[in-house]
Amino acid sequence: MDTPKTTRKLRSTEWFGRQDKDGFAYRSWMKNQGLPHHVFDGRPVIGICNTWSELTPCNAHLREIAERVKRGVYEMGGFPVEFPVMSLGETLLRPTAMLFRNLASMDVEESIRGNPLDAVVLLVGCDKTTPSLMMGAASCDLPTLVVSGGPMLNGRFRNERIGSGTHVWKFDAMVKTGEMTTEEFMETEACMSRSVGHCMTMGTASTMACMVEALGMGLPGNAAIPAADSRRKALAHMAGRRIVEMVEEDLVPSKVLTREAFENAIRTNGAIGGSTNAVIHLLALAGRLGVEHSLDDWDQIGRDVPCLVNLMPSGDYLMEDFYYAGGLPAVLRKLGEAGLLHKEVLTVNGKTQWDNVQSAEVYDENVIFPTEKPFKEAGGIVVLRGNLAPDGAVLKPSAASPELMQHTGRAVVFEDIDDYKARVDSEELDVDASCVLVLKNCGPRGYPGMAEVGNMALPAKILKTGVTDMVRVSDARMSGTAYGTVVLHACPEAAVGGPLALVQNGDMITLDVAGRGLSVDIDEKTMEARRQAWKPIHPQATRGYVKMYQETVMQANEGADLDFLRGGSGADVPRDSH
Ligand code: FES
Repeated sequence: MDTPKTTRKLRSTEWFGRQDKDGFAYRSWMKNQGLPHHVFDGRPVIGICNTWSELTPCNAHLREIAERVKRGVYEMGGFPVEFPVMSLGETLLRPTAMLFRNLASMDVEESIRGNPLDAVVLLVGCDKTTPSLMMGAASCDLPTLVVSGGPMLNGRFRNERIGSGTHVWKFDAMVKTGEMTTEEFMETEACMSRSVGHCMTMGTASTMACMVEALGMGLPGNAAIPAADSRRKALAHMAGRRIVEMVEEDLVPSKVLTREAFENAIRTNGAIGGSTNAVIHLLALAGRLGVEHSLDDWDQIGRDVPCLVNLMPSGDYLMEDFYYAGGLPAVLRKLGEAGLLHKEVLTVNGKTQWDNVQSAEVYDENVIFPTEKPFKEAGGIVVLRGNLAPDGAVLKPSAASPELMQHTGRAVVFEDIDDYKARVDSEELDVDASCVLVLKNCGPRGYPGMAEVGNMALPAKILKTGVTDMVRVSDARMSGTAYGTVVLHACPEAAVGGPLALVQNGDMITLDVAGRGLSVDIDEKTMEARRQAWKPIHPQATRGYVKMYQETVMQANEGADLDFLRGGSGADVPRDSH
């Protein structure tokens, strides 16, 4: 083991450097793990914050990744300590993993602050694990480096690429229309999830891994190396080496996560055709750091960014192809050459973003398109406003149907998700393809947790006519693997009496993407009368975390963080008894 390299006064010395009874306790109990005395000699203590869990299958390989990080830390004379935090698995956790993003972030924040750590490596993968760990670490502001677990290998079914999530929606619709049998549907389960790693479409997990890299919080290449590729382990090893240097440099998140870094991330999201969920997570993360960042930034800064990356759900390829084609560094280089990147922002490897990406190459223009001939003209998230969403709603044009971008249709209203499930496939449902499906009470407070149900599957009787898209409006989120002309995150949400709550069957709704409008044709007098008659349809929780969540969660346009978690408390331990 190397000698420690840092010259800084370390935070961990407050624990392990003491020559009194407290110091005895701090060291002695650690020694029950077989640790020799010299690891307490003042070397940097590096926390490896692990979301490994067999209930989070996307992160189930992270113990192995942690071992690789440890190798790097040891090589550089650091002392690695791995610790678990709440892991949020998208597929199993009910009612929705998003309900617990803020809770997990609190776990992360207090685990880092309360322990003898000088820096931390965050091991993330599945959708909510990335923002929750970044939010918690940002509120402590110790040197932090993020290592994503990487995407699964390409799904493959009968020699066709199939993508996580995206093909579940497609195959489900095919079963409903009789184009696929239930047996074939079941056969695709194993074909879709062929290796360790997270969803390999450009869903939320891949988007957030790209955000990590675009924000400068991960090493170059972090986003796309497949989880099963040996180079993912090498990246983790190098992250372990680098975090020890970051202690010496005091390279903390607040030096990396600047306003310019967030602008880079917004533009990157447009270029990759990324998930709408990134909007909420980045708003919440910026809130932890006090960085000025609003919903409108997504439209204003991302508006003219061309979508370069041809990945499902908007396109044809998958993350494994993206890696072979050059990965995110190649996209960032293209943004830089187009004047759409703040080149001088600092990243965790100590270099500027431009230093990292300026020589990146594109190896397959079917996957990463040239800027002058993009995959889609507009990749950015559109922010809509109007009397149906005065505080904003979002739509992802790259996943929507061009012919529906300007549309007026009759509202078919579902009061909540149970109402939707009960009636959507009924032959009695009064709906045609020109209608607008409206789903209420699925926002942060209403669901609660703002589930990914906004991409409501179309009514069976519409699917049978061959129609594959309709305008849908809700206060919910949408899986990053989903697609369609779907208006999401309508604010204020129905459960707090937002205008969405007042829409009734037969009202005419207009979506005007070019004009950034979302309106319902109800005069103000009628709206006011409905407002007076409105009552919340669901009782609020009366105990536990969910009660606290419902009482303090902010609306989607502010990131749906808990109001008292805005800002950070730094790494100092309050009222320390020692
Ligand atoms: Fe974990 Fe998609 S379910 S990343």
